[in-house]
This record gives sequence, structure tokens and C-alpha cells, in this order.
Amino acid sequence: MTATLPGEQPRTVSRTPRLLGEPRLPGDKSISHRALLLAAMAEGECTITGAGDGRDVGATAAIVIALGARVERLNADGLNVDYKVTSPGAEGLHEPDRVLDCRNSGTSLRLCSGVLAGLPFFSVLDGDASLRSRPVARIIEPLRSMGAALYARRSDSLPPLVVIGSRRLRAIDFTTRVPSAQVKSAILLAGLRAEGRTTVREAVATRDHTERMLRSRGIEVRREPAASSGGGPVAWTLEGGARLRSLDERVPADPSAAAFWLVAGAIHPDAALTLRAVGVNPTRRAAIDLLRRMGADIDEAPPGEAPAGGAVGGGMGEAAADVGEPLADLTIRSSELRAIDLGPEEVAAAIDEIPILCLAATQARGRTTIRGAGELRNKESDRIAGVVAGLTALGAHIAVDGDDIMIDGPTPLVGAATETLDDHRLAMTFAIAGLIASGTTTIDLAESAAVSYPSFFLELERLTA
Ligand code: S3P
Repeated sequence: MTATLPGEQPRTVSRTPRLLGEPRLPGDKSISHRALLLAAMAEGECTITGAGDGRDVGATAAIVIALGARVERLNADGLNVDYKVTSPGAEGLHEPDRVLDCRNSGTSLRLCSGVLAGLPFFSVLDGDASLRSRPVARIIEPLRSMGAALYARRSDSLPPLVVIGSRRLRAIDFTTRVPSAQVKSAILLAGLRAEGRTTVREAVATRDHTERMLRSRGIEVRREPAASSGGGPVAWTLEGGARLRSLDERVPADPSAAAFWLVAGAIHPDAALTLRAVGVNPTRRAAIDLLRRMGADIDEAPPGEAPAGGAVGGGMGEAAADVGEPLADLTIRSSELRAIDLGPEEVAAAIDEIPILCLAATQARGRTTIRGAGELRNKESDRIAGVVAGLTALGAHIAVDGDDIMIDGPTPLVGAATETLDDHRLAMTFAIAGLIASGTTTIDLAESAAVSYPSFFLELERLTA
């Protein structure tokens, strides 16, 4: 493999004869954001070990500092960071004296809105051009009905977002319109400071890190129906006013980052990759289970499987008890893949992994159909347009019909210029494609990988050297 030097752009990736080793993974992005925000809301001191040191999590850390918590970087290795957070607690935070810059991070924007809704401050949340094109009506509506005042550009649809929080929030019973852990989390975080019982209902269970992390910090978060019933509709409930405990957190390796290597190993003809201590929370492991359904040879220790009922995004996970997150070591070997059909529930469960699963589908026998993928248009870029353009440039047979994506395979890929739309997950998808494509694959704006996975290209070079 050849690649341009770190920091340079565009990058080039060439086919590699062998792919062996243990890629280092960033700490889970979703959990890292939440650990920082919950640390800021709880009075006291805590350490967050192994947080992802990507730009997105860095944006949340800077926001927490602007609100008056102390955040120290204890150790950082270019991929992960250990934070020490000392906070006066939610009551002691102060109004920020500047615009809060979420950069590229939708999670920072949505989760911070939930926290700020219950604080009596005037705040402005802004970000880069990508973030300014992402929808905020979905959080304005519930947080307004709780009593916070929120305003945004274009008739309250796009950032920058103004949040004028209130000390006297009302609890609500809210059903989310799109499956979104960010919206659910914003409401639950606001619900912590509301009077009464807040309920969030979702038609499809989304990632449950906020709920787990609140529980482990002393908040009673109830789930209906019970965890054992698998996926499908679910309601989360908490009582406002309870005290949030400060807690040390060790962040698992990010399963969404791991998915790039799982696909790389599966589609490469001579590969064996091991990924250590990956978070395999039932609401995050969909890509593992979908790849297995495609025939991928994934070894998981300790063994895990799709949640009960065959649905994705189900219970809290046996291994996790009521605190923390289940972990596993994953080993992937070269695999013969076959096409599968994915429905909207599976798209919601694997929302961040769909671009890299599209690449897997180009190497699978038959037609893979991904139905109901419209939410991908609301991510860091229009990921449907981006992944279709990039994989088509590489010679894949991929088509779109409304919100459905169809991919026919297997197709040998041919190196070409790909456009990432400055989207980290597209940059990493096209780089992995480059490992099996003939010739040279060029990836523009490749440094966007650092949004979630700062050492991604270093890992790629190390594994293929
Ligand atoms: C996230 C939830 C998902 C995901 C994002 C992280 C989270 O977004 O795409 O990368 O940490 O809650 P939505 O909940 O908006 O689908």
C-alpha cells in the first residue's frame, strides 16, 4: 500500500497483498460524548479512560469547559485520551460567553441542547458547513414543549441553534418521529432537570448508552417492555430531580470504527484482523450480526449473538448487568460473502455502518437491498449520494430507488478518484475499498477521518507495510 503523508490530501491507497494484524481502535464516540456531558452535570471529579480523541469528542470537551467544568487531558496517544473532569455540577455551571462550536458533530449539538434546555442560560450552538445543514426541528419540538426556548435558522430547521434554558422544565411523554438516539438522549438529559416523569417512546430501539450511563450514575431509568423482549417499540422513563453521581468511566473500543476493519478483513482475500475490547452492546452490534448473515467469518470472544427475537437493537445485554457495556475481542478472516436484505429497523440499528456495509455488498454474491435508508441523507453528508458516487467510481453496481439502495455483486473494484464530501465515514469506506481495488484509489479530504478515528490512516499503513 502507498499513502501520502499524514496531513496531506488527497490520500492514495493501493491494493495490498495481505492484511494481517490488530488495528488500534478509538474509544466509542457516542459513549465519550456522554461521559463528558454527564461528568459536567454531576458534582465532583471523575476520570474518563480511553475516550476517543477525534474532533467530534474534542468539540464536546471544549463545550463542557465553556460551561464551567474543568477538563484535563491526562494521557493522549494520537487516538485516545484519558480525561479528568472536575465539575461544580449542573447547578454550578455558567452561561457560556461565546458561541459553542460543535464543529462537525451532530451528537454534540443534539446532546448539548438537552443539557442546556435545563440550565437558565442563553447559548448558541453552531458548527461547520455540514452541521449547519443538519435538521434541528426534531429536538426543538420536544425541548420547547418541556419549557425551554429554542430558535434556529430557516424557520427553526437548521443551526445555528439558540437555546434559552429554564430552571423549571416540565416532563413530557414524547414519541420520536425518526429513530434517533440523539433525540432520545436530548429529551432524557433535559428530563433529568424537569419536574415529573419524562417518557421517550421510540418505534425502533436505538442505542441505549445514555440510559445505561444514567443508571450507573444513580438515576432510575425504566424500560418498557422489559429488556428480554428484543427489538421493536420501547419506552424509556425517568423521574426528574434525582441527583446524578459522578463516576469513573472506561470507554469501550468503538464498534462503528471496528466495522471498517471487519469489512476490510471479510472482503480481502488474504486477511486476518483482530480487534480488541470492542463494545458489543446489543443496540450497537448490528453490523457484526449483519456481516455474519452475509457469511463473514467473525470470531467473537466471549461469544455474542443478535438480541432475542432476531431483531436488532433489543435488550440491555446479559453481560452488562445493569452497569456498563459488554465487550468482546473480534477476529475477522477472509470470507465468501452473500447478499442480504436489510429493512428499515436494521438500517436504524446499523445507521453509521451502512456506507461500509455497502462496500461489503459489492463483494457479496447476489443483490443486496437496503430498504428505508433515507435518514442517511441527514448525516455529515448525504451519505446515500456520497456512497453511491464513490462506489460507482470504483466500478461497483449500486443503484438508488427513493430511500432504497440496491447493490449487485461480486464486482472487482478498480482504483479511481473518490469524493468523501468531507465525511469521515465515506473517507474510511473508500480507503478500505482501495485495499482490494486494482490500481490506485484516491480519497479527497481524507483527513476528515480524524472526526472519529484520528489514527485511521496510520493504522492502514501499519497493517499493509
Ligand atoms: C449517535 C446517534 C446516531 C449516530 C451518531 C451518534 C449518538 O445519530 O448516527 O453517529 O451518539 O447518539 P441519530 O441518533 O441522529 O440517528
